[in-house]
Amino acid sequence: MDATDLADAVYEAISRRRDVRAEFTGEPMPPATLHRMLVAAHSAPSVGLSQPWDFILVSAGTTRARFKDHVDNERRVFAESLPAERARTFVPIKVEGIMESTLGVVVTYDPERGAPAVLGRHAIADAGLYSTCLAIQNLWLAATAEGYGMGWVSFYREPFVQHLLGLPDRVRPVAWLCLGPVEKLQEVPDLERHHWRARRPVEAAIHLETWSGDVASRGASDQ
Ligand SMILES: Cc1cc2nc3c(=O)[nH]c(=O)nc-3n(C[C@H](O)[C@H](O)[C@H](O)COP(=O)(O)O)c2cc1C
Repeated sequence: MDATDLADAVYEAISRRRDVRAEFTGEPMPPATLHRMLVAAHSAPSVGLSQPWDFILVSAGTTRARFKDHVDNERRVFAESLPAERARTFVPIKVEGIMESTLGVVVTYDPERGAPAVLGRHAIADAGLYSTCLAIQNLWLAATAEGYGMGWVSFYREPFVQHLLGLPDRVRPVAWLCLGPVEKLQEVPDLERHHWRARRPVEAAIHLETWSGDVASRGASDQ
């Protein structure tokens, strides 16, 4: 593959990727494909090469049903915190595909991996968590490239998942990911389709030189 084709393929996967909740078919995934995607996740950059993530593959219906009950309850907690109008907008929004997806992948973070001298983490403890999130994003893009879908579920309390999956106390469940074949990937994020929130233009996120972008006065005060 030449550089242009590679760039096209990468940008295409990035733009096709969606958070999936409603479109899972529940069809099986070939083990070799699942393994390829996990290798991609495990290839993520990590602070001090700590690779602080683990992937717990959850297919058991009973475990998933217990998690789904917990998530439903957290959904209620969130809904009850909303003002009436936001609560109405929230009603049709699906926040998970736990039972419909083919597989749950719980990605965890172990702060002791490679510790105590994690190169690059002495000043920013969160760098380990950032690394774990990069593994998740690699998995998300790999799933998209395979024609699958993935959805991140964060409507849970960490101690519940720690207990459900028997995690050591120090290990944090960073994400419950719903993974598998899908009918299609939506072109527009669910939250935008349901008028929860619109995407921000990239121009609003780009700042020149300083947060305020006030290049001229900043330059003057530097002198
Ligand atoms: C840290 C994190 C947590 C998220 N938690 C949930 C969740 O609990 N339920 C859900 O439906 N989507 C969840 N999402 C997906 C976001 O809602 C989604 O990424 C966003 O609306 C943009 O849509 P897109 O991913 O399709 O571009 C989460 C995403 C991230 C990065």
